[in-house]
Amino acid sequence: MKIGIDSIAFSTSRYFLSLETLAKHRNVNYEKYNVGIGQAKMSVFPPNEDIVTIAIDAAQKVISQMDDKNDIDILIFATESAFDLSKSAGIYVHHFLKLKEDCRVFDLKQACYSAVAALQLAKSYIVDNPNSKVLIIGSDIIKYSPNTSGEPTQGGAAVAFIVTQNPRILEIEPYAGIHTVDVMDFWRPSHLDEALFDGKLSAYNYLKSLDICVDRYWKKSNLAISAIDHVCFHAPFGKMAQKANNKLFRCPSINETLIYNSVIGNSCSASLFICFISLLDNVKDDISHKRIGFFSYGSGSVAEFFSGIIPENYGQTLDTRNNLKMLSDRIEIAISEYELLYNNKFHDGYHYENVGNITMLGINNNQRIYRRLQNN
Ligand code: CAA
Repeated sequence: MKIGIDSIAFSTSRYFLSLETLAKHRNVNYEKYNVGIGQAKMSVFPPNEDIVTIAIDAAQKVISQMDDKNDIDILIFATESAFDLSKSAGIYVHHFLKLKEDCRVFDLKQACYSAVAALQLAKSYIVDNPNSKVLIIGSDIIKYSPNTSGEPTQGGAAVAFIVTQNPRILEIEPYAGIHTVDVMDFWRPSHLDEALFDGKLSAYNYLKSLDICVDRYWKKSNLAISAIDHVCFHAPFGKMAQKANNKLFRCPSINETLIYNSVIGNSCSASLFICFISLLDNVKDDISHKRIGFFSYGSGSVAEFFSGIIPENYGQTLDTRNNLKMLSDRIEIAISEYELLYNNKFHDGYHYENVGNITMLGINNNQRIYRRLQNN
């Protein structure tokens, strides 16, 4: 049975900070950010937008492609930016999407890796329940402290995809190389909004895990490097993915995979899949029947290399024009606005827009209040 991704979409903030602006205010040569790190812009989130509101926007796009959303039996919300240690962020999404009550909903956490865990779990579930569909969301907003080396790699986005049998976008293959090891390279204690990290250790462990995962993948699959046509990597920043590609694959399409990431920044659990959408939208050739390799790295750490085949006619499901429009329509903010938004503050007299039709009104009695915007 062929199982995999039937439709896929992403969403990010309406606002961005140019890294040229950040470089100027941090007295750093912009070339370091643009060439050395491989990033040009980063998404910045106003207080009315969070991992739930962007997740709903991304999920609405994939649900609009379904004949019947009641086929969704499971919603898995993958995130490392959870604001509640008990209630699943997925329940808000389930509510606003009006999914059926007979549906399992839960969050998954393991840094940037958890959406891949969700995909593999969903695949096993569909084997036993071939008519079922699973909605997976990866949604993260990442903050590092100002003036740290991580600051230019901040960002955020949500990806949503539906896992089914006979998928239209990607058929997941049965072999994967996995590597789990206890490393203190990146972490966020529950009392902090900002992530803490050991940047050099994290980059080292990312590449070491890649070697181990790919080696295990070759052994399980009996495939060789030439069998992989394109590779998508988890991209905490573009240069990390370029280094990974140069180390093993040297796929020229690495540039197409990083177009969206370079203007969004790190979107953690969503990042690998946004690189996949970027490839689908921007690669010039028809990639039907091609094998795509995927490398996921979640600090801490769990890493996985797996692959999938692109079915015939995948192009019919893409929404390239709207993806490009969503990114090009974003509003640039000044450094003073970024500093205000960093502290999650509303600006007197400034009305912040949402990317979709759900807004976060505020927090009352420690409860998040979401509303559907009027005229939607
Ligand atoms: N022109 C061109 N290039 C320049 C330059 C200039 N003027 N100045 C510096 N550079 C280059 C450097 O040579 C370097 O290139 P190489 O890596 O090829 O040597 C690059 O720019 C970066 O310079 P530094 O190493 O000096 O940068 P840094 O120490 O300030 O920060 C970082 C880099 C460590 C990755 C930092 O961004 C960071 O800590 N980020 C957060 C952690 C992270 O993202 N880790 C990635 C792996 S972990 C993961 O994947 C999970 C996750 O999502 C977090």
